[in-house]
Amino acid sequence: MSLTSQSVTAAAEEAISAISSAADLDQLKQVRIDFIGDKSKLAKANQSLGTLSPEQRAEFGKLIGMERAKVNQAFEARKIALEADRDARVLIEERVDVTLPGRRSLKGGLHPLTLLTNEISDLFLGLGYRIAEGPELESEWLSFDALNIPADHPARTMQDTFFVEPLDAKLVLRPHTSPVQIRTMLNEKPPIYIICPGRTYRADELDATHTPVFGQVEGLVVDRGITMADLKGTLDFFARSIFGSDVKTRLRPSFFPFTEPSAEVDFFFRGRWIEWGGCGMVNPKVLQACGIDSDEFTGFAFGMGLERTLMVRHGIADMHDIVEGDIRFSQSFGSGVR
Ligand code: DAH
Repeated sequence: MSLTSQSVTAAAEEAISAISSAADLDQLKQVRIDFIGDKSKLAKANQSLGTLSPEQRAEFGKLIGMERAKVNQAFEARKIALEADRDARVLIEERVDVTLPGRRSLKGGLHPLTLLTNEISDLFLGLGYRIAEGPELESEWLSFDALNIPADHPARTMQDTFFVEPLDAKLVLRPHTSPVQIRTMLNEKPPIYIICPGRTYRADELDATHTPVFGQVEGLVVDRGITMADLKGTLDFFARSIFGSDVKTRLRPSFFPFTEPSAEVDFFFRGRWIEWGGCGMVNPKVLQACGIDSDEFTGFAFGMGLERTLMVRHGIADMHDIVEGDIRFSQSFGSGVR
């Protein structure tokens, strides 16, 4: 290309018109490469200055410099305008409505029975008791024989207890938490202060007041000089802590093979006496079978149903609500996030 002032101004005009017709920043970028970059006509004109005579070089150098300055100015102005356009568009397109309700994911929560179990555990931990545990698949011997429950006792029949095959393995789904008493006494020397909350099984149909899988809490104390007064005081404390400070308890004579004497414990709540569980002084035969000197040590034990405790305290009329796992039931106890 021979260098003329017309060709320089024409190249500049061409560049300026391309700049003004660039519709967005991407197009403007391409315009910059084509009309301003090293391969553009104006850049090449500038590069060819070296081949000119000194007078021409001064003249064209000045012209090219002026034209390039105009082009650059036009470019900068267009760039600012297109950036402003883009920013305005992004503000609209990417608008966030901070007033929209969030998407909530529910957090898990503890079942009301678990909450009650924890509450009872904390209560007795506070008295210096230890939490003891035992297996739910338990030996028949620990579940019955060691508790002085004879082989012809009705609790041993198939109608009551889940026996687990093969039958000669003599394993049952524990029908109460009392085998944990035996496990503890066989393994530890007195003084013993334990409670055992846990799951238990009996061959009952699920109905408004029964469930084949239920919870019990067992208490056991073995120490020197333990009397029935200690048992009564402990039950009073337990009942008042769970049901309210004005609650009274009473003991009614009863029979359990592993306690002597034995009693049923009731509590007076909202105007009536309610059966709560069994209790008594640990039968000396049971202490002896566990290798504990029954002349030196005495003890008491008690066992309550967890579902029943929860139902009475909260006025739950139907066992189904407890076992069916509808989270609205748990939420009504404040469990989990609504
Ligand atoms: N094991 C008894 C039951 O399941 C409850 C019970 C009664 C537990 C008296 C005890 C007790 O520790 O002393 O029906």
